[in-house]
Amino acid sequence: MTRILVMGANGKTGRCVVEALSTREEAIVRCASRFETSASHATFDWELRQTWRPALEGIEALYLVKPASTETNPDVRDQMAALLDCAPELRRVVLLSEIDAGTRAEDLDERRVERLIENSSLEWTILRPHWFMQNFADPSFYLSQLKTEGRVSVPTGGHATSFVDTRDVGDVAAAALLDRSHAGKHYTLTGPASHTWADAMSMISFVSGRQFSYEDAPLEPYLAERASPYALRKFADHNRAVYEFLCSSASSAISEDVQQALGRPARTFETFVRETGPLWR
Ligand SMILES: NC(=O)c1ccc[n+]([C@@H]2O[C@H](COP(=O)([O-])OP(=O)(O)OC[C@H]3O[C@@H](n4cnc5c(N)ncnc54)[C@H](OP(=O)(O)O)[C@@H]3O)[C@@H](O)[C@H]2O)c1
Repeated sequence: MTRILVMGANGKTGRCVVEALSTREEAIVRCASRFETSASHATFDWELRQTWRPALEGIEALYLVKPASTETNPDVRDQMAALLDCAPELRRVVLLSEIDAGTRAEDLDERRVERLIENSSLEWTILRPHWFMQNFADPSFYLSQLKTEGRVSVPTGGHATSFVDTRDVGDVAAAALLDRSHAGKHYTLTGPASHTWADAMSMISFVSGRQFSYEDAPLEPYLAERASPYALRKFADHNRAVYEFLCSSASSAISEDVQQALGRPARTFETFVRETGPLWR
């Protein structure tokens, strides 16, 4: 039996990790959240250190979602190092990172966090997923704008994106949490095909019966609009890295890592759209 803590257990990937582990008898799962949501719940808040140790007590494997850096907690890497010190029984960690994190400057948070895990004495697996399909179904991403304005506006320069289904992220994470054969691997997680955002809107329009459109936002004004003079410089650097990648031909590259990790192909965008159709009506 492996005692596992899943961070962000109500989030887009965390809930899929919990779902994937629910059929595995060898897993005892604890769901971390700031809010009490289930019997297997552990209160966990990056902002409240007193919640860390109780949530991690007895935990052997961790699905780790990094915190957002804030004015009060600006160093995400140091915060994560302090968290690992609260978990003496931990032996395996699966880190949720991001596509392209491996090519980013070493002083950016994504890479510093990856290095922390890579250099630890733990068995580790690093997941680098591309843009989630489920962002189109999340009110805090595009769902609200789609429903109210019927459009989404993001810079891609017309390049296609190999969106990944968060259920595949969850399945790979569950496999890595339970099986040491995934240790020491970086998995780049994408879907099995790439789609322009205009095509994505056409597919969503087709299944929902509503007309949705995509507008290619010019990159620099889009970044400038999101840059607040009060925000940490690293937010702007991170946003630039993310959207420059989305505006490059590399964003359409397809990885075989879901197939390699799970022995089955990644879920398609068409399947996600078909199953989610009623949400956009
Ligand atoms: N969105 C994408 O396309 C994408 C692609 C690649 C990688 N990622 C990575 O995925 C991660 C998050 O993804 P997301 O933005 O899509 O969000 P999400 O996973 O849908 O939700 C964020 C989760 O973070 C938890 N959370 C928020 N504040 C917290 C705090 N102070 N302490 C503890 N937990 C807290 C929330 O849990 P509770 O509310 O239950 O506490 C929620 O479950 C990021 O690290 C991002 O880099 C995202």
